[in-house]
Formats: sequence, structure tokens, C-alpha cells
Amino acid sequence: MDLNPILSRVDADLPAAMDRLLELLRIPSISTDPAFAEDCARAADWLVADLQSIGFAASARPTPGHPMVVAHYDGPPDNSGPHILFYGHYDVQPVDPLDLWDRAPFDPAVEETAKGPVIRGRGSADDKGQLMTFIEAFRAWKAEKGSLPFKITVFLEGEEESGSPSLIPFMRDNAAELRADLAMICDTGLFESKVPAIVTMLRGLLGEEITIHGPNKDLHSGMYGGAAINPIRVLNKVLASLHDETGRIAIPGFYDGVRELSDEMRSQWQSLAFDHAAFLGDVGLSVPAGEQDRTPLEMLWSRPTAEVNGIWGGYIGAGSKTVLPAEAHAKLTFRLVPGQDPLDLREKFRAHVRAQLPADVTVEFHAHGASPAGEMTVDHPAFQATRAALSEEWGRPAAFVGCGGSIPIAGYFKTELGMDALLTGFGHDDDQIHSPNEKYAVESFHKGIRSWVRVLARLAG
Ligand code: BES
Ligand code: ZN
Repeated sequence: MDLNPILSRVDADLPAAMDRLLELLRIPSISTDPAFAEDCARAADWLVADLQSIGFAASARPTPGHPMVVAHYDGPPDNSGPHILFYGHYDVQPVDPLDLWDRAPFDPAVEETAKGPVIRGRGSADDKGQLMTFIEAFRAWKAEKGSLPFKITVFLEGEEESGSPSLIPFMRDNAAELRADLAMICDTGLFESKVPAIVTMLRGLLGEEITIHGPNKDLHSGMYGGAAINPIRVLNKVLASLHDETGRIAIPGFYDGVRELSDEMRSQWQSLAFDHAAFLGDVGLSVPAGEQDRTPLEMLWSRPTAEVNGIWGGYIGAGSKTVLPAEAHAKLTFRLVPGQDPLDLREKFRAHVRAQLPADVTVEFHAHGASPAGEMTVDHPAFQATRAALSEEWGRPAAFVGCGGSIPIAGYFKTELGMDALLTGFGHDDDQIHSPNEKYAVESFHKGIRSWVRVLARLAG
């Protein structure tokens, strides 16, 4: 098939496509903060209208949380060709700390940078810019050819950044409607910002919040200090006990079930020649801080972590205050790898904490999200087709890589719907996702759209 007319249309339509993306980026769809619930619904409605405009039967489906967008495009009358589901998420992370942004996070714009033009704004790379790459590819294809080449379902979530609480019930309730031959997930990046990449291993995530209680009220540390236990001291001991001096996680049983990398993956990753000095150098660091007997790529992609994300308690205002606080708090997340069961690890973590509490101290646990790691089998013929399409567009062979981040649905397609999932995306390591000044390269957006056109053509056969 001659793709040039479609690709030329993508090129010519790029300014209009960017305008559409900027419109979507102006909607502050922060899923984790209830104050933005209406904006999440607005983003879902915007996407429904956009998908309808290119011929999809689209609707926003209510959930106990934010709506899901589900849209269908019927394939050819003879039902030939595959049925592919495309997934992205329209929700975004909170914007704080706001004072570190160079422009308002929801007033997006195209900016020139030393590395080329970028679209600046919250959600530009994670994930609105990415999900619009496949929608724009559908638009260009339809405009040029009159119809899309096979049956397509689009599934856009509004709770990915808050752990996807409504996802499993929704997938179960709508299983027949969502089941397709394969899911394509567009929410990841290029390898080292230049090589197109298909993710075959993705870490899971377990969230916990703990409160350590000591005395029944805040105390004067002169009157009680020495005799009264300080909950911050207990919290520090507990947090310091999570790792040993070699970087290994010291919670008993934490590595139960963790598998060594297969020979095939090990050699795939070795061939990537990852520049860890540049990777760490870009963020002002120099020495990999994980398990000392592991390579940096293993630390990032195939080994679990325990991280403290926030810690508070006592007096943190201006000046000094001699308080002996009643409570101390921390938020933690664990990145998980295949073989680890999130709920089992939650209990192991809790037991490890309880075992260290001195007299008079109690602990309260609050559970945050839990999703297992995902391991993608690459047997489905679509993997080779997508690899070829990406290599063609980017001029370099596409790599099979791991991803240290988490996308809860990646594993659920298999466990809930029996489908394989293929993860690819066009983000750069320095897109500052989840951080101030998030951006998406115009090149990522443009070549991302062109990549999907090539993928559609290959999948159509
Ligand atoms: N798009 C990211 C996942 C990602 C991170 C891909 C880094 C490539 C590189 C996704 O939206 C995300 O941030 N997920 C959260 C999941 C969590 C809130 C359940 C994450 O990984 O922290
Ligand atoms: Zn994302």
C-alpha cells in the first residue's frame, strides 16, 4: 500500500493537530484531587466528541471515580483484519510545586528549545500528547482513505495517575465489549530519547502510608524528652531498616518469587549499551544507588525497589520548637517485578514494621494502590509488525526494553480479558513527566502520529 498520501496529510495537518492537543491540555484533568472531578469529566467529553468527529461510536462511561471513554469503529463488512484496542489515559498528575513552573501548567504553548520545538504543559507527554498520536493517525487515515482498515476500539482511562481504582470492575463489567485481539498502550518512551522502543517488562507498584503513634498528645521536650518515646525516632529506625548497606531491601521475604532475567532478555539489554553515566549525570548524580551487584538497567527495569516518597511529623514551621510529637508519618511506594504478589508484600512490609515497635508505640497503616508487574510475551505477530513500522519511521531498529514505571492496565489486559498488550510510545527521558515544566517534543508528536499510520498499514497486512 502506498502510505505517502496519508503521511503527507499527517505532515500538512500537524499545525491543526497541535491546536487540538493544546485544547485538550487546557483542561486540568487531575485525577487524584477531587476538586478537579468536573474537569476530568470535561476532558472525557472532549475526547468523546473528537472521536465521534472521525466516525467512532464513542461515549463516556460513568464509574465510581472518573469516566472511562470507550469508542468503537467497525471494520470492513466482511470482518477481515484484526480487532485492535488502543489505550491511553486522559488524567494528569497534580502540578505542585507550582512556583517551579515557567508558565502556567494548563496554559500550554509551543516553545523553541535547544533540542527543537516542544509542547509545554501538564499532560503533554503523560499522556494526552501520546494518546492523541493514535487518534490523529486515525483521523489522517480516514480522511485519505474514507474508512479505517480494521476494527478499532479506543479505551481511555481517567484514573491511571491515581492507581486505576475503577479499572478492574469496569473491565469485568464490560469484558465482552473491550475484548480485542491485542491492546496497544501508548504511554511510554523512546530508549535514551532516540531509539524507538517496545516495552516487554513493566514494574508494578504497591503504595503504603504509615502513622507511628507515641504519647497521647504533643509534649514539651524539656519536660518529657528522654523519658518519653519519640515517634519520629521510631519512624526513622523503621525506614532506615528497609535497605541494607549493599542496597538490598531487607524486609524478610521481599525477594521471594523474584526471578533472574532470562538469557534472551539479558542479551537484549546488553546490546542496548545503556549510558548510565549520562542518564545519572543529567539529574546531577554519578553513582547507581541500587543493589551493588546489579547493572543499572537491571536496577531500573527488573529489580524491585522500596522508596520513601514523603515524611512528616512534629514541627516544620519557621524557627525552632522544642516539641516531642505525638505522631510521625511517611508515604512509601514499592516498585515490583514479575513473581512478586503486591498483597503478600503489603503484609510482609507491615510485619517488618510491627516487629520493630518499642513499648507504648502503635502503628496505623493506610493502603494505597497495588498492581502487579507485567511481562509481555512477544509471540503475537503484531510485535514484529510494530517493530518494523517503528524502525521504518525512526530510521533505527526498534528495541525491546523494560520500563521502570507502572501502568496498572498493562497486566490486567491479560489477567482480566486474556489479551496480549503491546506498549510503545514516544516520550523522552527529559520530558519531566510528573514534574514542573512537563513537555512533549513536537517531533515525538509528529513522528508518533506517522508511526501509528505505519503500524496500521502493517497490521492491515
Ligand atoms: N506514563 C507513566 C508510566 C511511565 C513512567 C512510563 C516512566 C515511562 C516512564 C504512567 O502514567 C505513570 O506515571 N504511572 C504511575 C502509576 C501509578 C500512579 C499507579 C507510576 O509509574 O508512578
Ligand atoms: Zn502515563
